[in-house]
Amino acid sequence: MKAILLAGGKGMRLRPLTIHTPKPIVPIFGRPFLHYQIDLVRKLPEIDEVILSLNYQPRRIEEMFGHGDGLGVRISYVVEATPLGTGGAVKYAGGSLDETVVVFNGDVMTQVDLSAVLRLHRERKAKATIVLTPVANPSAYGLVETDPDGNVRRFLEKPKPEEITCNTINAGIYVLEPETFDRIPKDTVWSIERSYFPSLVERREAFVAYVYDGYWIDIGAPDKYAQVHRDIMDHRFAAPPFEGTPLGFAMVSPEARVEDGARVDGPCFIDEGTVVKAGAHVAPYSVIGRQCQIEEEARIEGSIVWANTRVGRDAVVRQSILGRQCHIGRNSILDGGIVLGDKSVVTDYSRL
Ligand code: GDD
Ligand code: MG
Repeated sequence: MKAILLAGGKGMRLRPLTIHTPKPIVPIFGRPFLHYQIDLVRKLPEIDEVILSLNYQPRRIEEMFGHGDGLGVRISYVVEATPLGTGGAVKYAGGSLDETVVVFNGDVMTQVDLSAVLRLHRERKAKATIVLTPVANPSAYGLVETDPDGNVRRFLEKPKPEEITCNTINAGIYVLEPETFDRIPKDTVWSIERSYFPSLVERREAFVAYVYDGYWIDIGAPDKYAQVHRDIMDHRFAAPPFEGTPLGFAMVSPEARVEDGARVDGPCFIDEGTVVKAGAHVAPYSVIGRQCQIEEEARIEGSIVWANTRVGRDAVVRQSILGRQCHIGRNSILDGGIVLGDKSVVTDYSRL
């Protein structure tokens, strides 16, 4: 069985982080995001190949994952010449399949039991099965109404406030029968959410919901991207590299150097080659990538710092995300919610 991961979006909401790093490979504790999804897909023994459906910066992603050697599953790539939307991409990547296929949005992090989803799909002889998850505010997602038997009765993408009738949304994980792809036009921009799912409902085809209320998050916006790090450090989501560590653990690479007189408070992560100088303070929920320099008396608090960034003496970085190779000048203060793209330079004494 094959799994298609839809990973061709531009990652607009994560800009500027995604200008040089496509969303599927944004680092989470130095590990490209797609690794976490592949870990999940691999738990389904039936899956023998993962097809990555790409169009934005596909090279970078192909170079990273290759044929999947060492990942435990074969990886192949399908690259659209121009973005075909979620439905067009499924048709393009899976149009010639003749067996049940699992489809994932390439930006969701979850521990849903895929075997149970597949079992339900088979028991109900469904044409499509969709994983739903409850959220407080469905407006940024696809709202899905079901009947008491768990059949999908309505699919409404990005509902307006007055259209919200329930709290279950599309979690971006589907089991589909390729015979239903006949309605998707070839090489045409087409939305699985706005056209394919509503058409299943309209034609009263067997379209079944699997409700999952465990851990689920879409990492596609900066606050959610940051949240996933906190959740892994807090063991709300069991995943490498914090799986099996004590709560509040300060994970400092043996190849990092924390100088005498520097302070490091867990939970936090400091990757290899990074230097934390005397008097600097890495406060809880900080994630510092490879080869960074945190200078004397600088303070990092609840922030994510990508590789090769330097934070100058006496600077303070709070609840922010810094891309690669940034330079934060001395005595600067980044006071919450700041997102800087790669190679940003913040002049000494700046206030952001
Ligand atoms: N190959 C390809 N081509 N992939 C695409 C394209 C495309 O043209 N457009 C989007 N994708 C991929 C994105 O990379 C992402 O992994 C996935 O499809 C979903 O796109 P997003 O842009 O992240 O959509 P969203 O988050 O606003 O909404 C979707 O996800 C929600 C759950 O997170 C919808 O499926 C909602 O219904 C759902 O609730
Ligand atoms: Mg998304």
